[in-house]
Amino acid sequence: MSTEIKTIKRTIIMRKEEVTDVPIIQVENLSKIFGKNAKKATKYLDEGLSKEEILEKTGNTVGVNRASFDVEAGEIFVIMGLSGSGKSTLVRLINRLIDPTEGSVYIDGEDLAQMDGKNLRNVRREKLSMVFQRFGLFPHRTVLENAEFGLEVQGIDKNERQEKAKKSLEMVGLGGYIHQFPGQLSGGMQQRVGLARALANDPEVLLMDEAFSALDPLIRKEMQDELLELQESMKKTILFITHDLDEALRIGDRIALMKDGRIVQIGTPEEILVNPANDYVEKFVEDVDRSKVLNAEHIMKRPETVNIEKHGPRAALERMRKEGLSSIYVTDTKRNLHGYVVAEDVSDAAKQEKKDLKEILKTDVPKVNTQTPMQEIFDLIHDAPVPVAVVEDGKLKGIIVRGAVIAALAGSEVNLNGIDS
Ligand SMILES: Nc1ncnc2c1ncn2[C@@H]1O[C@H](COP(=O)(O)OP(=O)(O)O)[C@@H](O)[C@H]1O
Ligand SMILES: [Mg+2]
Repeated sequence: MSTEIKTIKRTIIMRKEEVTDVPIIQVENLSKIFGKNAKKATKYLDEGLSKEEILEKTGNTVGVNRASFDVEAGEIFVIMGLSGSGKSTLVRLINRLIDPTEGSVYIDGEDLAQMDGKNLRNVRREKLSMVFQRFGLFPHRTVLENAEFGLEVQGIDKNERQEKAKKSLEMVGLGGYIHQFPGQLSGGMQQRVGLARALANDPEVLLMDEAFSALDPLIRKEMQDELLELQESMKKTILFITHDLDEALRIGDRIALMKDGRIVQIGTPEEILVNPANDYVEKFVEDVDRSKVLNAEHIMKRPETVNIEKHGPRAALERMRKEGLSSIYVTDTKRNLHGYVVAEDVSDAAKQEKKDLKEILKTDVPKVNTQTPMQEIFDLIHDAPVPVAVVEDGKLKGIIVRGAVIAALAGSEVNLNGIDS
């Protein structure tokens, strides 16, 4: 069938179904071969040769190999695979930063290949927004100026673009930071600016290529939660790329697994876990064998602390009361861990009007580092009088409460906020 007829047919189908669900992204038999011998390489693909063999024979790299899938409006579709499996290439094909060797991409039923430069720009502008891994912020522009950048290049006037940018900054919780510069913000906040910039366009689809991969584990989890929350209210379509199985399982409505440019399985997190399509998927999923793979950084939560330089028994008592804690870790301004104090001692010291936490400081801290596997934590936490401290270079990174370990071993969603030991 010629492309023209195909397009017409598609249009007719669209008309017929009208508003009924045309998938917002349709990818059909999409391939990308990097190199000069694409024809030959494609022929070898037909013959079933592997990416490696094709590279050997032709010097060409298979980026994406005959990928086909649909993304429905409003879903979070995750593309997961190891580094080099073709995820970024696939995203670039979808927003047409690169041309495919074969196959098609339809956005809202429209064939990208049939669009001229102007239409393509419109699609990128109105339908697709990209969030990058390394934030891609301009250091000498304020948060607001960064967020309005996409609108600025579209020539939208200053008032309107500032209004839109402010609104999207508020959505990501940065309403109070609009006049700061990126360098003044934490990594997580910078990533929010990147997200706000993408949202300012009010696109139908967010393309997020390893958007959270550069963030610290705790911040990363927070961002995942926030994205899910935002998604609840925005109802955008999100194409989310990651190499991290936990992340994929956490946020994906459906997950496509890539290997050597091919999509080897598409399914809900449950389907992927319960019914891995082949050995490769199974290998990936085996990693979910929780006690083996999960380590301290996966289950730690943000610690409540008091500062030995600033806080005395009264301040500590106040904080513990407010948070409902029977013990609390003591750090300094640089987050170096000094020890912990327990409620009884703190209360006594406060009654005696003591000024300092040093006298009642306990230093027999149950300690692990971020990479300590679950099994070891499990053994340690059993006898620990306080939550286990996760320490790296002497600094307190997080704490682990007993409930989190048990929940994680049982394979249930770890609710890091609702558990106390
Ligand atoms: N511009 C390019 N030129 C040649 N090879 C490329 C290019 N971009 C990506 N590749 C190759 O295509 C494959 C897929 O890469 P990529 O899509 O970046 O993977 P991922 O994002 O999953 O890590 C890799 O083998 C990579 O080396
Ligand atoms: Mg990539």
